[in-house]
Amino acid sequence: MANENKLQNIIAHCKEYGFVFQSSEIYDGLSAVYDYGQNGAELKKNIREYWWKSMTQMHENIVGIDAAIFMHPTVWKASGHVDNFSDPMIDNKDSQKRYRVDHLIEGYVETLNDDAKGKALIAEMDALLANNDLAGLKKLIEDNKICCGISNTCNWTDVRQFNLMFSTQLGSVAEEASEIYLRPETAQGIFVNFLNVQKTGRMKIPFGIAQTGKAFRNEIVARGFIFRMREFEQMEMQFFVRPGTQAEWYNYWKETRMKWHLALGIAPEKYRFHDHVKLAHYADMACDIEYDFPMGFKEVEGVHSRTDFDLKQHQQYSGKKLTYFDTEINQHYVPYVIETSIGLDRAVMMVLSEAYEEQDLSTEEKTDSRVVLKLPAMLAPIKLAVLPLTKKDGLPEIARDLINECKPYFRCFYEEKDTIGKRYRRMDALGTPYCITIDHQTKEDGTVTIRDRDTMQQERIALVDVRAMIMEKTKMF
Ligand code: GAP
Repeated sequence: MANENKLQNIIAHCKEYGFVFQSSEIYDGLSAVYDYGQNGAELKKNIREYWWKSMTQMHENIVGIDAAIFMHPTVWKASGHVDNFSDPMIDNKDSQKRYRVDHLIEGYVETLNDDAKGKALIAEMDALLANNDLAGLKKLIEDNKICCGISNTCNWTDVRQFNLMFSTQLGSVAEEASEIYLRPETAQGIFVNFLNVQKTGRMKIPFGIAQTGKAFRNEIVARGFIFRMREFEQMEMQFFVRPGTQAEWYNYWKETRMKWHLALGIAPEKYRFHDHVKLAHYADMACDIEYDFPMGFKEVEGVHSRTDFDLKQHQQYSGKKLTYFDTEINQHYVPYVIETSIGLDRAVMMVLSEAYEEQDLSTEEKTDSRVVLKLPAMLAPIKLAVLPLTKKDGLPEIARDLINECKPYFRCFYEEKDTIGKRYRRMDALGTPYCITIDHQTKEDGTVTIRDRDTMQQERIALVDVRAMIMEKTKMF
């Protein structure tokens, strides 16, 4: 299947099976904003829970917090977001369409059938971006006659920096209201609570603070379904370390985070590290973990060595000391920080891209096919479907009893309509790893059929063993 087709098919599947809907669809949608449906919300919750448990429950020296989305406006001055969190943009005067300069040039390079020319152009663009040379970027676009895809003209405005933060007013009286921002990353809620958590939790360095939550960015070119959204969710962890040990911990977290990804059952060749050459203003080392999405290798997570930049900035702007006393070396210092930051929506998209399979099951006798989501069992929205073979003879009652026994432990689904084959196919499309069929033999010998989604193999097991078996097969740790 061509990759562009695969992406379109996944988007259609997500809509048809209640995973992801366009936001405000009945009003023709809101660009780059999405809602999760009944199955998407469960999948997303399970990924969030898996990340949360991996970080907090499985690491004794990491605790989780839940900071507010609104923060004091000076936070964003201190963090550098007010001055630096922007992308160079250019508008086409004829179509009024706005482009991120790097996306416009990269899009043009993709249309070239000249690898060497493309590479040279990207290198020139990177150098101009690094020097913040906005006039040079405009000249590069004009010299290469890069046109707008809509108007087909090269009638461009100057290149300008465009801040990505959304702002709003806090306070009910217009004159007294002050401008605040919707957070563009969750990390700052951790930095400003560093001492609160360290003191109340009596945390000893090295230790980490984790958090999941919404972040907002006014992305100009938002595309790729839930890959790049204006409202999205991050799962971030800041790990506070002794200055001078950051390289060791940076490597530790690179490796640990890659192991987390591989534990999802995704093949190593679907991932790669991309080390940053141009570092963000706060970092001394940084890399992306890239996954091979249907549109190619793209960032799913970042691991950043943020030095003591953020804590020092907050110390300076707030006038409050943010130091730690290290009893082992008898010294006060501002800790260094290693950050791991993964987008939850990107993780959902990664898991769906990996799981989605269109299978041709035709034999000589008949043509047949299925769409299956081979989700890791621990992440599946529904863990067990219970299907009575018929609607009578007491079979639905046995099925209901089984569901009542299992539902406090994991999510079950009851279905008695349609042929058993159709019901299996529907569960395959939702990614349900196990189906139990209750038939007449169940009444005679207390056994049921369990069907495995991936192999489609069926075997008979004792009804009394179902709950424990599914718990074992779908557990996270
Ligand atoms: N605190 C560091 C930070 O925010 P980032 O690389 O800008 O770093 C981290 O973002 C992760 O957040 C990315 O790897 C990506 O998974 C996710 N992310 C960033 N922008 C996003 C967007 N517009 N839509 C969806 N996810 C996004």
